[in-house]
Amino acid sequence: MARIIGGIGTSHVPAIGGAIARGLQKEPYWSPFFDGFVRTHAWLAEQKPDVVVIFYNDHGLNFFLDKMPTFAVGAAPEYISADEGWGLPVQKPYPGDPDLSWHLIEQLVADEFDVTTCQEMLVDHGFVNPYSLLWPGEGRPVRCVPITVNTVQHPLPSPARCYKLGQAVGRAIESYDKDLKVLVVASGGLSHQLDGKRAGFINKSFDLMCLDKLVSDPEALTGYSSLDIIEQAGTQGVELLMWLAMRGALGSGVSEVHRNYHIPISNTAAGMLVLEKAAAAVRARRLEPA
Ligand code: DHB
Ligand code: FE
Repeated sequence: MARIIGGIGTSHVPAIGGAIARGLQKEPYWSPFFDGFVRTHAWLAEQKPDVVVIFYNDHGLNFFLDKMPTFAVGAAPEYISADEGWGLPVQKPYPGDPDLSWHLIEQLVADEFDVTTCQEMLVDHGFVNPYSLLWPGEGRPVRCVPITVNTVQHPLPSPARCYKLGQAVGRAIESYDKDLKVLVVASGGLSHQLDGKRAGFINKSFDLMCLDKLVSDPEALTGYSSLDIIEQAGTQGVELLMWLAMRGALGSGVSEVHRNYHIPISNTAAGMLVLEKAAAAVRARRLEPA
């Protein structure tokens, strides 16, 4: 059976891709951010996931205002990046896992999440930068199932709904009958606002509270509405929705391996959190009623 080994949340600011392309990881501006991934790489080398299920928000590359699914699941054999106008290099394609994608889609629809299915999907910096941060270089050591959450066209899904989506994804992964180790990734956040009167807005105390709650009491964050999160964390800080989905997928028996928090990268409070799911908790969860 497939097993969730843990989850990682990370910011995805486009400038990260530029820093990687220009080899700036050790520069004073960038090292407090990139050094945060050293322990994460060691953890990934030990855990060796086969597949990553990545919750991210498309920023207008694959979906635009004309058609905007609330939740969409990739079911492609590979995912292609493209020029979004940030001046970032287009990346080598990312391998998919269509069998796992269709299993997740079947289970999600049966669980009353009527997702959009994407047999072709362009992936933007929300997908590419986390992959490059976790698996640097041209290698593609893990297959991918991208799941997008709308943060662009209101109304947005609520934190509670995204958490429940994550729970449904977690149940679906653990009911997959192939022996796979699955990592769940959340891409986005933490607090940031790119435009309007509050451009540059960052809320450190809210971010740190969210990181703590994501570890030990994620349901406490489901009492917020998406508009509450925008108020507290900035317009684009609503990308916290991905972190709630990731955390929902992990369920109980989760411990913190590592975190990093650095202000700012570009306009964003850059957060990173590694959560491990204990093997015993995985077994216990299989015995819980769905
Ligand atoms: C920035 C952050 C984002 O999440 C994004 O999608 C684009 C830009 C930034 O801080 O520059
Ligand atoms: Fe973003």
